[in-house]
Amino acid sequence: MAHLITVELTKEKKSKPAADKLGFGKYYTDHMFIMNYEEAKGGWHSPRVVPYQPISLDPAAKILHYGQSVFEGMKAYRTLDGQIQLFRPQKNWERLNKSHARLCMPPVDEDLAMEALERLILVDQDWIPEEQGTSLYVRPFVFATEPLLGVASSKEYLFIIILSPVGAYYAEGINPVTIHVESEFVRAVAGGVGNAKTAGNYAAAMKAQELAAGKGFTQVLWLDGVHRKYIEEVGSMNVFFMIDGKVVTPALNGSILEGITRDSVMQLLRHWNVPVEERTISIDELYEANRNGTLQEAFGTGTAAVISPIGELNWNNEKLVIGGGRTGQLTSRIYDTLTGIQNGNVEDPFGWAV
Ligand code: COI
Repeated sequence: MAHLITVELTKEKKSKPAADKLGFGKYYTDHMFIMNYEEAKGGWHSPRVVPYQPISLDPAAKILHYGQSVFEGMKAYRTLDGQIQLFRPQKNWERLNKSHARLCMPPVDEDLAMEALERLILVDQDWIPEEQGTSLYVRPFVFATEPLLGVASSKEYLFIIILSPVGAYYAEGINPVTIHVESEFVRAVAGGVGNAKTAGNYAAAMKAQELAAGKGFTQVLWLDGVHRKYIEEVGSMNVFFMIDGKVVTPALNGSILEGITRDSVMQLLRHWNVPVEERTISIDELYEANRNGTLQEAFGTGTAAVISPIGELNWNNEKLVIGGGRTGQLTSRIYDTLTGIQNGNVEDPFGWAV
């Protein structure tokens, strides 16, 4: 069933940035999608595409005090034959609602969210950059707006989608990054909200990231919060290692985000008959594998960077160089195939492109 989404077009179109100046998340398109939730009015209402604009919030809005907020990220591409393509968007709407359930937020109608996204992208389609390595990043987010300081889930929310033409997430692009293995701070613990895409997880990660950057590292490798021993994520990405011809990634344990790129990489590897294991991986195992010469490749996966090769780990002052600090062969093949499927240049045997 089609939903009634109203569209108000801007009277003043912005000028578009040059492709080589895009960076990540610095520029926004001419329009945004917005819809309200008010329990007293029966739930979600007034879905609309409007000119991109500031929003006003009551200073008591619950998001500002108790952090009830969830977001998603995906990318839209213009294919060579002029079509607009998204990558597994339904998975994002499913995950959004899983995060909502964890944060006591009301579910969003996934069909309506999809229709809203299509509407918005069509209105701003001339913002989809076409240069190699660029895309239109889609940021849907939902947050609590009820002006009430009692600690209980909000009865009012805003759902917004904004669009941003982007280039590479890391300045390194597809070149290997250096990583600090974090042994003081932790990102999340099982039973907490680490497996929900909620704003607070990213705030909690900033301290370690800032300290690591101060020491010259690009990102941190997160260890589990109980034993400080098992690998969880790298920066804001899932993480994979190739050890002795097998690809391993930490099993989802309640504190790790269920990445859509993570799932796609595992499906792709199985399609290529490369053995993949989801299991616990200790930091000792990695150092041991490095000593006996079986640690071959390592990379992070996420929507923003897609694949980010890891060239070096640093743990307790012991430096471990992976694959001579160069991007591994399998890592490159995954990157080329996945980005090819995403931008429509490589055949998609999985039906992921929408
Ligand atoms: C991603 O890897 O896509 C992320 O979620 C990082 C994002 C917060 C920029």
